[in-house]
Amino acid sequence: MTFYTLGIESSCDETAAAVLEGDHALRSNVVFSQADLHARYGGVVPEVASRNHVIKIVPVVQAALDEAGVQLEQIRLIGATRGPGLIGPLLVGLSVAQGLSFALDAPLVAVNHLEGHLFAHRLDYPQIPPPFLALLVSGGHTHLIRVKAWGDYELIGTTRDDAAGEAFDKAGKLMGLGYPAGPQIDKLAQHGDPKAFSFPRPLLGQGFDFSFSGLKTAIRYFLQDHPHAKLEDVAASFQAAVVEVLAHKLFEAARQLRIDTLVVVGGVAANSGLRTRLQDLAKREGKKVYCPQLPLCLDNAAMIAACARYRHAYLKEESLLNTFATPSLPLA
Ligand code: KG4
Ligand code: ZN
Repeated sequence: MTFYTLGIESSCDETAAAVLEGDHALRSNVVFSQADLHARYGGVVPEVASRNHVIKIVPVVQAALDEAGVQLEQIRLIGATRGPGLIGPLLVGLSVAQGLSFALDAPLVAVNHLEGHLFAHRLDYPQIPPPFLALLVSGGHTHLIRVKAWGDYELIGTTRDDAAGEAFDKAGKLMGLGYPAGPQIDKLAQHGDPKAFSFPRPLLGQGFDFSFSGLKTAIRYFLQDHPHAKLEDVAASFQAAVVEVLAHKLFEAARQLRIDTLVVVGGVAANSGLRTRLQDLAKREGKKVYCPQLPLCLDNAAMIAACARYRHAYLKEESLLNTFATPSLPLA
């Protein structure tokens, strides 16, 4: 009998559900982004997010089943994000998953969202298993992770303040761009000169931790002093600073740890400047860099389903039905 996993993701402002067949055949991947609802506030408002998850979660799950052509009764496993994320939003998705698990008598695997991002790689490149070195760059996290095996992770470095995506969003806000600003900076940067202005490269050459809050402050003062600077050039120069720090640390860690397979996941992995730079470096250094396709980089439930399926099938894991959401759940 075909093994279908239903994945549910609701840790921030995306209500998402997906149906996975077996280990990595994606049958549907439905994402309802609340970004427009939060844009007017310049960032995610947790209470607004929770309320909209409540409104959207059942229609999104139904849409994922319809798109997959699968009946609810055919679902054999439920995977849902338990953290890290916003407590209200997490509770909505996890509670629905617990209810479905009970009603269908199907096991539940409560998934770590960060591990979920890593599993986006398994969906696109099942033929490239660990070990590899991963850079997880999203709105909430900047992690360099040594993935020894699925389920076995060593944190090599992380941010001391803002995450990479947060830096994009905050810098974009200062530039007058809407939320989320990452994709807009990416677009503007394509028409700007990355060498036009010189912004700081925080902690470059100083270990594997990151720091982006100083860069944001540098942008603030720069814009105060140069109110007529060409926005495309500011965006390109800012992006160049972030990309250089991320790329430099990833490749330095790869050299030191003697790892030739690199994987980049999370929303910022969608950045075209970062992707190009990493592929250039990979060619030069004889390494391989893998970035999942864009929809799998951003928050989605396909990655959650893939992670749940792996943990259930190969690590023999099953979560208790009263597993609680954990907003600050660490990866390792
Ligand atoms: O992984 P994700 O969808 O959600 C979190 O888990 O945080 O990442 C969202 C983040 C946002 O900060 C957004 O601005 C950033 O990813 N982002 C980008 C791009 N697309 C999304 N940043 C830079 N360039 C992009 N093309
Ligand atoms: Zn995420």
